[in-house]
Amino acid sequence: MEALNGLLSLDQDMVREGDVREGEVIVDMPPARDAGLVFIGRIRTPWKSRLETPRQGRQDGPVCKLEIFEPWVPAIKGVDFYENLEVIYWLHQSRRDMVLQSPKNNQKTRGTFSLRSPVRPNPIGTSIVKFVKIEGNCILVRGLDCLDETPLLDVKPDRCEFTPLAPPQAGDFETE
Ligand SMILES: C[S@@+](CC[C@H](N)C(=O)[O-])C[C@H]1O[C@@H](n2cnc3c(N)ncnc32)[C@H](O)[C@@H]1O
Repeated sequence: MEALNGLLSLDQDMVREGDVREGEVIVDMPPARDAGLVFIGRIRTPWKSRLETPRQGRQDGPVCKLEIFEPWVPAIKGVDFYENLEVIYWLHQSRRDMVLQSPKNNQKTRGTFSLRSPVRPNPIGTSIVKFVKIEGNCILVRGLDCLDETPLLDVKPDRCEFTPLAPPQAGDFETE
């Protein structure tokens, strides 16, 4: 138990809200350009603070709700056909200006594009989750790792399970 406590306190040191650590590098953000994203809903999870969220969701983790807003509710139709879904979300509380990061807070850095850190120029998070059930305008799933009320960008079938419904086209057969 003591070992676990030690691990937990070490882990807490490595979680942050938005501070810059020794060795990390931030840049001036270019002016924001509207990429035309639409939040299609919000994610309801048990976690109110980044100090509590899992680093990556687990498929035996708590049931979370993808609450879909109108006019997108009819788009839920058919998701219950799949065991696993890919959820794409906007990690809205992340800083976006860091190019080198020190995940272990030990002055050793890695480039942002070599990490799955929430801190990135466009803070998009993705998780493969277990489908649980549909309840009204909500899709219930397990396997998320985001804060309560995180904006939802998209939901798709897991690509391993999905066979395109549309007829094949030339590029499907191209090799090399
Ligand atoms: C490491 S990211 C992984 C996200 C996603 N599974 C991925 O790989 O793209 C998960 C962490 O992001 C942070 N986080 C979760 N929700 C957030 C939000 N809405 N805004 C900012 N950070 C968030 C939490 O610290 C959480 O542990």
